[in-house]
Amino acid sequence: MEEPAPRPVRSALAWLVGVSQVLGLASVVLTGVWMGHYRGGFAWDGSAQEFNVHPLCMVLGMVFLHGDAILVYRVFRNEAKRNVKVLHGVIHLLALVISIIGLVAVFDFHRAAKFPDMYSLHSWCGMATIVLFCIQWVMGLMFFLFPAASSWLRASYLPIHVFSGLVLLVMAIGTCLLGITEKLLFNIMKTYSAFDPEGVLANILGMVLVCFGVVLGYLITREEYRRPPNPEEESLSVHFKTLTEGGSPASP
Ligand code: HEM
Repeated sequence: MEEPAPRPVRSALAWLVGVSQVLGLASVVLTGVWMGHYRGGFAWDGSAQEFNVHPLCMVLGMVFLHGDAILVYRVFRNEAKRNVKVLHGVIHLLALVISIIGLVAVFDFHRAAKFPDMYSLHSWCGMATIVLFCIQWVMGLMFFLFPAASSWLRASYLPIHVFSGLVLLVMAIGTCLLGITEKLLFNIMKTYSAFDPEGVLANILGMVLVCFGVVLGYLITREEYRRPPNPEEESLSVHFKTLTEGGSPASP
């Protein structure tokens, strides 16, 4: 059996995960309050209220759920790896579905209002993030959940997958910051510099998103919070490899 992590490491991990959840939930609530209270609420009829679905779904899907999908490997450190992988894939799928709803909302709103599509830096960064997110999800499915690749290929791809996950989170948060600024300039350009309450709320949202990214980045990159290697799972995987690739357990 693997030694459990020292107590201070476990309690720091628990605190940081708690802080990340408070920040993530706060970002979703702030987006909901901004769109619900200051921008007239939500609808699905091509109106400005349909646009409001866009930021809410993007913050919930591309930032909060995406971050939590990554965190499952730090939170469920001692659960069976296969179950954690399934949870990781399912939360990512949920994030993707919610983000696609948010994307449909903004394109639908643009079509109804006869606004041009894909002209802004925000929309370019956003589209790149979504496309890469889809590719990352499909690759993860192929390599880890239904492994079609050899164990060597999987081991080589893992660091790229982990790095890409973090890059995608940074891209999603950066895209949100661009979207927030753009929305403020569209709606409250004249009063923004006078500390309009809507502008202050949106600025706080941006800062909360940045803090969420920083806490998550810290949690993901610290060696002591990594899932400990499980000798039983390792040996099972060696036996499986032996059976499927025809070597002996002792062979290299
Ligand atoms: C990762 C999160 C996000 C992604 C991937 C994303 C993606 C996109 C895309 C692809 C468009 C272009 C739609 C079109 O051309 O018809 C768009 C439009 C827009 N989004 Fe976002 N968005 C995100 C978050 C946000 C947030 C948080 C806001 C804040 C209010 C926002 C505000 C806007 C605005 C104002 C537009 C219309 C103007 C434009 O096309 O740039 N977005 N978004």
